[in-house]
Amino acid sequence: MSISEEIQKRRTFAIISHPDAGKTTLTEKLLLYGGGIQTAGAVKSNKIQRGATSDFMEIERQRGISVATSVMTLEYRGTIINILDTPGHKDFAEDTYRTLTAVDSVILVVDCVKGVEEQTERLMGVCRMRNTPVIVFVNKLDSEGKRPFELMDELEKKLSIAVRPLTWPINMGSAFKGVYNLYERNLYLFNPGKTVIEHDRLYVRDLSDPLLDQRLGGDAATLREEVALVEGVYDRFDQADYLSGKVAPVFFGSALNNFGVRELLETFLEIAPPPTSRESDRRVVEPSEERFSGFVFKIHANIDPRHRDRIAFLRVCSGKFERDKSFRHVRLRKEIRFSTPYNFMAQRKSIIEEAYPGDVVGLYDRGNLKIGDTLTEGEELVFRGVPSFSPEIFKELISTDAMRSKQLEKGIKELTEEGLAQLFTQEIGRRKIIGTVGELQFDVILYRLLHEYGASCRFQPLGYAKACWITSEDAATLKEFIRIKASDIAYDREGRPVFFAETAWWLNRMIEEYPSIRFHFTSEWNPEPEGPIEEMAEASAS
Ligand code: G4P
Repeated sequence: MSISEEIQKRRTFAIISHPDAGKTTLTEKLLLYGGGIQTAGAVKSNKIQRGATSDFMEIERQRGISVATSVMTLEYRGTIINILDTPGHKDFAEDTYRTLTAVDSVILVVDCVKGVEEQTERLMGVCRMRNTPVIVFVNKLDSEGKRPFELMDELEKKLSIAVRPLTWPINMGSAFKGVYNLYERNLYLFNPGKTVIEHDRLYVRDLSDPLLDQRLGGDAATLREEVALVEGVYDRFDQADYLSGKVAPVFFGSALNNFGVRELLETFLEIAPPPTSRESDRRVVEPSEERFSGFVFKIHANIDPRHRDRIAFLRVCSGKFERDKSFRHVRLRKEIRFSTPYNFMAQRKSIIEEAYPGDVVGLYDRGNLKIGDTLTEGEELVFRGVPSFSPEIFKELISTDAMRSKQLEKGIKELTEEGLAQLFTQEIGRRKIIGTVGELQFDVILYRLLHEYGASCRFQPLGYAKACWITSEDAATLKEFIRIKASDIAYDREGRPVFFAETAWWLNRMIEEYPSIRFHFTSEWNPEPEGPIEEMAEASAS
């Protein structure tokens, strides 16, 4: 099979949601279609249980499991589907953001009772930055939720994207009868409690078909009215608008009851993009190019504490990845070979001989690979866009065992390379500042430092509210700013200067006072970047 044929056969996406909206349940049901898992609950175990937010032991236990479910590959009707798992917990949002750089599209799960929640909004913001195509699955229709039109408005408003329903529900909660497929014009009836794959589908000529009245009684009239309204309010579904991230098609269903999941999957396969091109610092790389290229978007360290192995997750962007072939490690400027690359078919790790664009390959590594690293078949290019976001919580790292400071140094270096937190070092006094997006990471760091490196430390809270990478066209101004603000400047792991502000108000003042300095809220993980590419929508911190 040619590379183009291999590409056409693949779909790589992530399911994202606010915790508890039903991501895990939906993933599990999708895997069932591909025969990916036999036992229900296999995906569930990856989830951080409610009430366990500070239970890092639980997280630690799940770290092993989450390697197995980081990528789930299934084959359905000749298509290879790679589902990239994303942690739902907000404290691990950065991990999710990075995973989103490795997918070609996204399925967003929304709970019909709760509507669009905070984490959904944030994740959607990242999708918008990259124009990632999004399909929305409104879940839990078997529960009494918000009215569908209200939900549509909320989706448009809070997610800043146009929506287009492709199915429409008939009632909700205990009165839920099923969904009407606006595209195929068939009615799909809900059979509560029946969690089977095949279901009751009723083909109708159109909405005037008397069969509707027979099966739905008085609800048929409401359905006709609502569908007429939908067709009047929303534009016809246009695949090009979906692919460019302008319109999100919407499906209704109940993941728990496996209702509406097949509609979702089949439409997904029809409209979702095969592996797409990726931007590099030199040029846009097309998947169909002969020569291999790929980038690392995730690292899992110390899975087995006895061996200091790490697993790097590489997304293949172009050409063909081959086992035992030498590839160029662009950052280290050296050739590198992998003798045991593996994939994630059917939840089992198995060594692979080759992989194609869209595939994710697991690479055992002894410290050569970092998040954002690019591998190629010789070309000196670096993929862009694996972002690092401005952290929100800052603490000083203080060693509590002077005898083991080397271990502490190594541990913190490796854990931050894994993307667990960001490390900033101040010039004055070499103070080490750890920045995270959530409190949970500090517990995880303490625990892992102790258990994996035998190093102990404590964290001293710092009064900073924001950190921004700073750049300027004018080197002298930047240097002067760094000199004056030395006590609030530290350097990230690539040696780039970062300014720390105690309040958003203070940061805004600095932005106003120093117009020739640019304050960035995101940065890239790539080595030697030419400067941050994306800024968060806000120009000022809030
Ligand atoms: P997440 O990964 O997005 O965090 O959500 P997850 O799938 O774990 O689902 C969260 C809760 O919502 C689970 O209940 C799950 O059973 C339930 N759920 C998922 N889909 C549906 C649906 O279509 N209808 C209804 N009514 N509930 C749904 P739980 O009580 O937290 O867990 P469990 O005891 O069921 O395992």
